[in-house]
Amino acid sequence: MEEKESNASSNLTIMRVLELYSGIGGMHFALCESGVAAKVVAAVDINPVANDVYRHNFPGTFLVNRNIQSISAQELNKLNVDTILMSPPCQPFTRLGLKKDVIDNRACSLLHVLDLISELRSLRYLLLENVKGFEMSQMRDKLVDCLEKCGYAYRELILSPCQFGVPNSRHRYYLLAKRKDLKFRFKRTSLETDLSPELSRLLPESKHSLLARKSGKINSKSGRMCYTLNNVLENIEEFKYLVPSELLRKRAWVFDIRTSESNGSCCFTKGYRHYAEGTGSVYCPFSDEIIRLKYDEATNHEDDSAKTRILSELKLRFFSPREVCRLMCFPESFDFPEHTTDKQKYRLLGNSINVHVVSRLILLLCNESENN
Ligand SMILES: C[S@@+](CC[C@H](N)C(=O)[O-])C[C@H]1O[C@@H](n2cnc3c(N)ncnc32)[C@H](O)[C@@H]1O
Repeated sequence: MEEKESNASSNLTIMRVLELYSGIGGMHFALCESGVAAKVVAAVDINPVANDVYRHNFPGTFLVNRNIQSISAQELNKLNVDTILMSPPCQPFTRLGLKKDVIDNRACSLLHVLDLISELRSLRYLLLENVKGFEMSQMRDKLVDCLEKCGYAYRELILSPCQFGVPNSRHRYYLLAKRKDLKFRFKRTSLETDLSPELSRLLPESKHSLLARKSGKINSKSGRMCYTLNNVLENIEEFKYLVPSELLRKRAWVFDIRTSESNGSCCFTKGYRHYAEGTGSVYCPFSDEIIRLKYDEATNHEDDSAKTRILSELKLRFFSPREVCRLMCFPESFDFPEHTTDKQKYRLLGNSINVHVVSRLILLLCNESENN
């Protein structure tokens, strides 16, 4: 693995980041949003569709289409990697999955990364994102063991964008680690599951928290102010992304319906638009009151087609890929190549990360404490 344009010795204060499992570049966007002086010296992912999107957005970044298991410490040492940002596959640890954990084939590459850590000469920082549930896995214990043996301190958090003013739930596990001589300003060593006063104090104000404070309402999931969905909605033709009547007939009762005045939405997963339940919210252009009335009216009919006809008047539609991008805090400049299908877009976004939350965590990771 060789970086084309090498600036290894040009500026030692710039962080040299290795982005593993890079997907569509969520970590790279988070790094940009954090404002930390950094360069992604290599990004690695095995999925050509994701890599296409990555390249489209970061044409200048050295992107490697390879299995992470084939990467050697020598290659990374040549790149002078000092930071690893990664969101490994979550299937081995998903609470509703088989939870095969470290014996799942999809966990092999992360075990390989643990082997690499002890051999990376200039590594200083590491950030890992995964699903809620990872904190109870054997993989987490192995990771923490490895970090301790190699001389790193770490912090663990479970956070969601709705704690940061963003109207979306996506509870994720984060582990931040840094070499023990670089002190964390964040002192809490047990698992942090909320935005505690200590944590809030350390995170700078952002456009999301400002907007939430200025025009938001209390979100029932986080108990914090979140802005409303009218801030993320696109002006979409009425029939685009409409929920098909067959799906309406079968699954209308399990939809999580949101309006422009809602200040929350469900986590969008890679199955969004394919499976109806638990994969993300749907949007209705009418008020909560009208939604309630129409559902009541539909319930009073025995006949399925009458129910469907009444509910179709609500014009329920899926959130567009652009709207999902906004809820996941990708910048407006983020774009998909023209040939990417909507199905691919939802899949890739569902696998990705909340850019804003990770940008705050990068700041938390890299700001050193002056008093040890
Ligand atoms: C949870 S997603 C990470 C998404 C990414 N952070 C983003 O913003 O899109 C996991 C990614 O790991 C990639 N992946 C899984 N196993 C891999 C392996 N052994 N080597 C390289 N990439 C792998 C998948 O293709 C997928 O894009």
